[in-house]
Amino acid sequence: MNSARWNGRAPAGRIAYVNGRYLPHGQAGVHIEDRGLQLGDSIYEVTNVLGGVPIDEEAHLDRMERSVGELGIAMPMGRAALKLVMREMITRNRIHDGLLYLQVTRGAARRDHVPPKNPPRPTLIMTMRTQDMAALAARMDKGIAVATAPDQRWARCDIKTVQLLPNLMAKQAAKAKGAFEAWLVDRDGFVTEGASTNAWIVDEQGEVVTRDLSNAILPGVTRRIILEAAAGAGLKVAQRKFTVAEALRAREAFISSATGAAVPVVRIDGQAIGDGVPGPLSRRIHELYARKAGIKS
Ligand code: PDD
Repeated sequence: MNSARWNGRAPAGRIAYVNGRYLPHGQAGVHIEDRGLQLGDSIYEVTNVLGGVPIDEEAHLDRMERSVGELGIAMPMGRAALKLVMREMITRNRIHDGLLYLQVTRGAARRDHVPPKNPPRPTLIMTMRTQDMAALAARMDKGIAVATAPDQRWARCDIKTVQLLPNLMAKQAAKAKGAFEAWLVDRDGFVTEGASTNAWIVDEQGEVVTRDLSNAILPGVTRRIILEAAAGAGLKVAQRKFTVAEALRAREAFISSATGAAVPVVRIDGQAIGDGVPGPLSRRIHELYARKAGIKS
């Protein structure tokens, strides 16, 4: 960004946090030898921010700690400090409703695949952006199309790393087919999850189904809260695999992520799901999630 135009007050959503400094995007950067940049040695989190408040914050920070733990990267700061920086970002970016992106890399070191014995200071990056609430409302209202694609990711999809090439390629292919999301399918024909969301169906018996947790999927924060909220409301829920064929026969389908809970899926590979319009359980689950997550709708 042109700093002459910045004038000390960047447009909303244009302030980044990098290693202790708040800077306009155009002035923010990481070291050229940052391992996140050079080797994808890096993890991330995305939290929704509504009314200036990060949603499901503790759960996202729990998962962040788990991700760095699995890779042997240290947390760049304690949780209380991290939460303070998150709030400062929301204030400085003047964003009421948006998305907060956090990334932790192993830090800058001479390029070598083997992580250095004496670890560098981990890099912490945060950025924010507004969310197009009207577009989200339209997706909730009309539902979305998904396109299936082979799951070509690695064997540790439970870690939220920034290595997202297979995800973005699947999403790009889905977009070319007019779909909003890609549903990734494993070698045995079972849906693992979406390229950036968890995948759900309401099966022919009316049971709410999402894939069970394993290294094959990301343990979605929204997924967990939906499962708890749905079970708490007496809905029948199951964590098990389902095939594309079963999804095509399902009464309803939906996706979940921090960017949208229970967004209805009305078409899979061009075929209508149920009546081809958002179903009642998807709507109910969206409301149950919102109540549990403390979101005022
Ligand atoms: N994606 N599965 C994958 C592969 C994801 O990337 C995400 C989140 C989810 C849903 O997780 P959660 O409910 O905790 O957001 C499932 C974020 C939003 C992203 O990459 O932008």
